[in-house]
Amino acid sequence: MDIVLKGGTVATAKDIYRADVGIQGGLVVAMGQDLQGDRVLDATDKYVLPGAVDPHTHLELEFMDTVSSDDFYTGTVAAACGGTTTIIDYAEQTKGETLGQAVDAWRAKADPKVVIDYGLHVSVTDVRGDILAEMEDIVREGVTSFKCYLAYAERLRDDELLQVLIRARDIGALVNVHCENGWLVDLMTKKLLAEGKTGPRWHPRSRPAAFEEEATQRAVTLASIAQAPLYVVHLTCAGALDATRQARDAGKPVLVETCPQYLLLDIERYDEPDFDGAKYVLSPPLRERDNLEVLWSGLAVGDVDTIGTDHCPFNLVGQKDLGRDDFTRIPNGMPTVETRAPLLYHEGVNSGRIGLQRFVELVATAPAKLFGLFPNKGTIAVGSDADLVIWDPSKEMPLTKENLHMNVDYSPYEQVTVRGYPELVLARGEVIVQDNRFVGQRGAGRFLNRRPFSLS
Ligand code: URP
Ligand code: ZN
Repeated sequence: MDIVLKGGTVATAKDIYRADVGIQGGLVVAMGQDLQGDRVLDATDKYVLPGAVDPHTHLELEFMDTVSSDDFYTGTVAAACGGTTTIIDYAEQTKGETLGQAVDAWRAKADPKVVIDYGLHVSVTDVRGDILAEMEDIVREGVTSFKCYLAYAERLRDDELLQVLIRARDIGALVNVHCENGWLVDLMTKKLLAEGKTGPRWHPRSRPAAFEEEATQRAVTLASIAQAPLYVVHLTCAGALDATRQARDAGKPVLVETCPQYLLLDIERYDEPDFDGAKYVLSPPLRERDNLEVLWSGLAVGDVDTIGTDHCPFNLVGQKDLGRDDFTRIPNGMPTVETRAPLLYHEGVNSGRIGLQRFVELVATAPAKLFGLFPNKGTIAVGSDADLVIWDPSKEMPLTKENLHMNVDYSPYEQVTVRGYPELVLARGEVIVQDNRFVGQRGAGRFLNRRPFSLS
């Protein structure tokens, strides 16, 4: 065997057990005791985890008069340093464009730069007959999930979303929906600006939880009418979780993603001095504190399926400050791709809110299963890709800007030190991160042809 990870404790969503892991040709080829290999990597007193799978990123995204500050190189380096070995990014269709053109544009940006494997979703922003027909070709290319916005200028009407859901159902695709009522956001925004309320603290007040709850309920209803599966992205609040829980209790295939920022940060961040509240301007926004414990409970009992990041970073200087005099011009998004697994481990596993297996399920196994990548990704088994993390449960890491690799001029977690961090990260059998240093290769990642959606 090329490499053996020796003496570690393997943790998957199903089991935790002592085993060596043998790697050859980029795959896991053996698991057991006393394995021998050309190169031995010591995992004594460490966990061996499947590389995490981030189902929600926005790298090099042209958005709100600027471009998200991580490109496919810096963003995937940062992901890897935080233990993520697969991302699924959103290719965005612009009006007039075909879905194929959007996917091609994203692949042209990503392929030469990615350091880990990646897949794509594609956002449908221009619903026409030819686009609905084209969805099937896109699924054949391995892009088996589509996003629809109910917020922003790109938002769809109900009849448009219904058509996308019906078409997706027929071709084995999953529809991911950004649930905020964009019409109500526009109305509330106009009112606030007319009252001279222009600072970052008005961003969350322009799009309150009720607007998300209404849009979530509507998406759930439309998916039910279409008899289609639905994946709600970045759910933030108790009311929206209730809407999805009721549908699930009635047996509907409604899947739920949340993100660490909604579990850990609250609306008070927008009151930070100077213009610092802009660091947290993203959509949906951070919520009132009582929602956070509701989301944690949802994670623990299984009402939430995945943890994504919605990574979409913008620098404070030169990007966020475009909206210094008008919160509607602050580019929406936060740097999150590197800190997802460490934060969830620290705040979830160390604090006893979730167990280690549930942690692995949320950050790796469930996203891989829902998005057609399992068992190549998201678990450790003979035949799986050797995307592996030697995780040191006692390693402490302050999440300062200096310690992180994301290409952005601040860390939202500057004051936080986590315990539990990757020591070594392997992607298809190659060591790409060692002690928080990237040692892999630009362009070594591959585009992943994902399988159609299935709940089994
Ligand atoms: O604020 C956010 N979330 N920016 C990225 C685009 C989106 O809405 O997902
Ligand atoms: Zn997003």
